[in-house]
Amino acid sequence: MKAIEWLGKVLRILDQSKLPTEIVYRDALSYESVAEAIENMEVRGAPAIGAAVAYGFVLGALEYQGDREGLTSHMEAVQARLAETRPTAVNLFWALRRMEDRLRECWDIEDLDDVRQVLIEEAGRIAEDDRRMNRLIGEHGNDIVPEKANVLTHCNAGALATVEYGTALGVIRTAHEAGKNIHVYADETRPLLQGARLTTLELLRDKIPVTLIADNMAGYLMQQGKVDLVIVGADRIAANGDTANKIGTYSLAVLAQAHGVPFYVAAPTSTIDLKVAGGQEIPIEERPAKEIRECFGVSVAPEEVNVYNPAFDVTPAKYITGIITEKGIVAAPYSVNLLKLMVRA
Ligand code: MRU
Repeated sequence: MKAIEWLGKVLRILDQSKLPTEIVYRDALSYESVAEAIENMEVRGAPAIGAAVAYGFVLGALEYQGDREGLTSHMEAVQARLAETRPTAVNLFWALRRMEDRLRECWDIEDLDDVRQVLIEEAGRIAEDDRRMNRLIGEHGNDIVPEKANVLTHCNAGALATVEYGTALGVIRTAHEAGKNIHVYADETRPLLQGARLTTLELLRDKIPVTLIADNMAGYLMQQGKVDLVIVGADRIAANGDTANKIGTYSLAVLAQAHGVPFYVAAPTSTIDLKVAGGQEIPIEERPAKEIRECFGVSVAPEEVNVYNPAFDVTPAKYITGIITEKGIVAAPYSVNLLKLMVRA
């Protein structure tokens, strides 16, 4: 199951909002179509969004009909549209910056098709880098997974949230492939149920034992000693280690600490944002009230009730046992160790 696939002149997007009941694809031929797919969460998960905007950028260049001179201002508009889709996952801005830099380096290339080719290759590298980083995250993360472990995860940080393999689920996959006895508790992840709809689907397909729980059951499970380890993904990690991830992650981290359960974040370095000093500076997306008042089209609350729907929360670094990246595992003090990690080749 691939979240996105580049087919030459089209970005094929698996519509995750319909999973697991329907398998529907959007063939995006325009950057606007990619932007809409991100806004509607047809493609979601920080690294997958990053790769999708890179190809959205390419589509913007392919759509352009003007002369060489006008390309820069057209691409600025493309970039601005893609940048406004979702605010929290920094991978989106990281990928757009890579594409922008690449375009800038093309200033002396006259032929528009040659410029387009350079951009296609850069988007391909972004996707390839993500694949590679996820495999390495899996290998490093495997070191902290015991031979027999009940692992709790939240939301979906799997193949569907990345270009391939996954971050938190990448660690779980590698441990399983290494022959460890792994069982996963998947939080359903209200309101959009990425855990129930996507994580369980991925794990079942890979024949990794999984049990689905409602979000409010995690504390009870930990109290009973049923969770050995928590591993989650991330949307943005600040310079001090504070980590934004799907709403509900913070509660899990506090619970994990209260019960002496190790709490790990798995993410590529493209999710680390050293420009943000601490979690309070991370923009948190608020999503439509409808996602809470309804559950997939079925009303579950009075229509007129007030709703608050933040899509992410921030887990303070003090609750995080370690951050698993493609370059290795980082522990506290994060301000020092994340900086060291980022400058390391
Ligand atoms: O709103 P979503 O589904 O895009 O949120 C996804 C998450 O919070 C993931 O945990 C995160 O993006 C990491 S994905 C490898």
